Amino acid sequence: MIPENTGPAAVIVLAAGAGSRMKSRTPKILHEIGGLSMVGHALRAARSINPQRLAIVVRHERNLVESHVAALDPQAVIVDQDDVPGTGRAVEAALQALDAEQDLAGTVVVTYGDVPLLSGEVLTELVATHERDGNAVTVLTAVLDDATGYGRILRGEDGSVTGIREHKDSSEAEKLIREVNSGIYAFDAAVLRAALGKVTTDNAQGEKYLTDVLALAREAGGRVAAVVTADRWQVEGANDRVQLAALGAELNRRTVEAWMRAGVTVVDPATTWIDSSVTLDEDVRILPNTQLHGATTVARDAAVGPDTTLTDVTVGEGATVIRTHGSGSVIGPRAAVGPFTYLRPGTVLGEKGKIGAFYETKNVTIGRGSKLSHLGYAGDAEIGEDTNIGCGNITANYDGEKKHRTVIGSGVRTGSNTVFVAPVTVGDGAYSGAGAVIRKDVPAGALALSVAPQRNTEGWVPANRPGTRSAELAQAATNDSSSTPASTEEGKQQ
Ligand code: UD1
Ligand code: CA
Repeated sequence: MIPENTGPAAVIVLAAGAGSRMKSRTPKILHEIGGLSMVGHALRAARSINPQRLAIVVRHERNLVESHVAALDPQAVIVDQDDVPGTGRAVEAALQALDAEQDLAGTVVVTYGDVPLLSGEVLTELVATHERDGNAVTVLTAVLDDATGYGRILRGEDGSVTGIREHKDSSEAEKLIREVNSGIYAFDAAVLRAALGKVTTDNAQGEKYLTDVLALAREAGGRVAAVVTADRWQVEGANDRVQLAALGAELNRRTVEAWMRAGVTVVDPATTWIDSSVTLDEDVRILPNTQLHGATTVARDAAVGPDTTLTDVTVGEGATVIRTHGSGSVIGPRAAVGPFTYLRPGTVLGEKGKIGAFYETKNVTIGRGSKLSHLGYAGDAEIGEDTNIGCGNITANYDGEKKHRTVIGSGVRTGSNTVFVAPVTVGDGAYSGAGAVIRKDVPAGALALSVAPQRNTEGWVPANRPGTRSAELAQAATNDSSSTPASTEEGKQQ
């Protein structure tokens, strides 16, 4: 058990920006990577350090963001930023909201809603350094080859951090500095509160800069320091969709690598996409072009792929899933699915069961050892154990108005192209003939035939389609069969 609320006094997540470079009707921080919105990743990192309070500052598309955040993290305090722009103003708004309930004391961490790869480990290190050294402010920084656009870290002769200069406010000499402000900090609450009271909008962008707090804290006699991270991805924000894709690919690379290190075989990491919410056991094999989403779990010794997409699917131990598109389903231990199979929500396949090629299933429970091997649809149905559903079987579950259930027992054998017109029940051990249309219940052990006896009208084709190729061939065949057996054999050998 993780002890609760033993971390910093608060984490404040900044998310009021417009994100206009995404060119999207969806707020920037709601765009997803690894199956989770950017703000979802930010909230997760924030929660992982067990803050006593968690606030998120919103403004742009605030209603959409608010409901999204409330669903992910109901305890998070939503704070509105007013018309005064700037990261300093955003933090000031959050402090006021949190102080209104109870004055914050101790460490306050600030992060961004659009920096999705920031990890709890880095935040933990930031807070630990900050508290161990008794700092007033500790800023997370990175050294970049191209620091364009970022705030630059200013250091004194002795190497200590003296402040941050925004790119737009910096001199030519300052522009050469490659150590940048990530925008992620740990502050002492009292220092932060006092300094924000002094921050003005007197700068190139007319904004209240949070970055001004560092120099103010130092002037007030506080210790200001930096934690430099070598992992630039952890501090990278997504401003447009190009950066979003790059961050998504990097997150996936990390997720796939972590699973390989945990004992999962991934044949082609480049074409394997695994959401951060997926769980895999040791000795799982993932074949190329496979995407695992949502709450998907794969148990030991199972093999998934190639060319498979699973969302919220539970794959049992030793099961195989080939070229399948599935969601909301359960695949039992040692069961086999695919190729070319479409599992829709509510599909539950029992141990050693099979759903084969060109099958679509929905809301169907299939018992242990039962097989639906080829070409069909099974929906709103319950199938017992060790039943064999023949090729091309269909549950006709929809009467045009309502859906109805089909119940098929254990040990049943159905003929090819059987149609079950629901609601209908087939008893244990029953059989159906090829092409049967089952409209009435079939008792246990019965053979159900519904196709009328076959009637052949001899000579119908030559008589009714004279001069056609069919008639010609029919004529030739009739002549052949009327000749001696010996000449028939000769005819076949030609
Ligand atoms: C900011 C930093 C800069 C740093 C960079 C790192 C300041 C003044 N500058 O610059 O030093 O290198 O981040 O990415 O802090 N936000 C609000 N309210 C606002 C403005 C921004 O909540 O009024 C949020 C945004 O949603 C975003 C974050 O703060 O999550 C950063 O805003 P952004 O405009 O990207 O800051 P930069 O100018 O890039
Ligand atoms: Ca930015």
